[in-house]
Amino acid sequence: MSDTMTDTITIRRPDDWHVHLRDGDMLRAVAPLTARQFARAIVMPNLGTPITSVAAATDYRRRITAAAGPGFTPLMTCYLTDVADPAEIERGHAEGAWVAAKLYPANATTNSAAGVTDVRHIHAALEVMERIGMVLCVHGEVTDPAVDIFDREAVFIERVLEPLLRDFPALKIVFEHITTADAVEFVAASGTNVAATITPHHLHLNRGDLFAGGLRPHLYCLPVAKREAHRLAVRTAAISGSAKYFLGTDSAPHPRQAKESGCGCAGIFNAPFALESYAAAFDEDGALDRFEAFASLNGPAFYGLPVNSESVTLERRAVTVPAEIDGIVPFHAGETLGWALAD
Ligand code: NCD
Ligand code: ZN
Repeated sequence: MSDTMTDTITIRRPDDWHVHLRDGDMLRAVAPLTARQFARAIVMPNLGTPITSVAAATDYRRRITAAAGPGFTPLMTCYLTDVADPAEIERGHAEGAWVAAKLYPANATTNSAAGVTDVRHIHAALEVMERIGMVLCVHGEVTDPAVDIFDREAVFIERVLEPLLRDFPALKIVFEHITTADAVEFVAASGTNVAATITPHHLHLNRGDLFAGGLRPHLYCLPVAKREAHRLAVRTAAISGSAKYFLGTDSAPHPRQAKESGCGCAGIFNAPFALESYAAAFDEDGALDRFEAFASLNGPAFYGLPVNSESVTLERRAVTVPAEIDGIVPFHAGETLGWALAD
């Protein structure tokens, strides 16, 4: 029976291996939406004041748990800066305060001003991480203004990632939110210590969509969507069944006014209907049989964590995404998706 005949799919409860939950009122608005879909999530540390210490990560996790309610486990990350302390990183990992550290090239994206200006500054931290098996999550874009924005991911591979893997060949790296055929080729050719997350929006959007009928600020994120051939390469990787690719929404909420602005923020808020969006893409490609590996198995395997014991069911049923949720415009706003999470 072909996948197009399947009307429900039951999979182990998925996790989100890359999400922005923010803080304060925004955290209270968005955390329950992620918790409704996912058992665990790798929480990005790019708050107004970045999460660089064990104490800050522990406090932030408490605020997340309070906002999300029971049944959701935040997996914390440490924000790497030029002065990252290897001993603090190792201690946080040993104590379970965080499971990964995040490399933001300085000024690559939202709240990344305190990021790393040159990877040489964090060599001591990376040495420790390689030794203890701690995952490095990477925002893979160069910030050199001379490099065209659509080439920044591909150039990052040759300028940063390849040298980094020569210096730290056993370091566990997640190349996050990949958007190019170049990234897919790099990950596929690397060892099992290199994996990638893929967002729902990069499965659906190419760069033309950002300008379809006018400027579409709610489809703008970083890394920015690329040309169609790249979208197809990323999509082929996602549905391939390879253990190297797994779900990471990069849900990045910004208030509507901050997006609809003379200088609009980067970030797509996809948390409310992320699974529905992914399922629609897998279904279109006849790959629903590989959805569970991508959403629920490959991520835990890479991080060395158990898979979730509960399951979730998605059913083939029309669901219309609201135009706005708590002052934020969600991905697929106003569209009808063909898959819905069963209650
Ligand atoms: C993210 C954000 O708003 O925090 N924005 C985005 O476009 N993805 C930061 C990031 O992950 O680059
Ligand atoms: Zn992100």
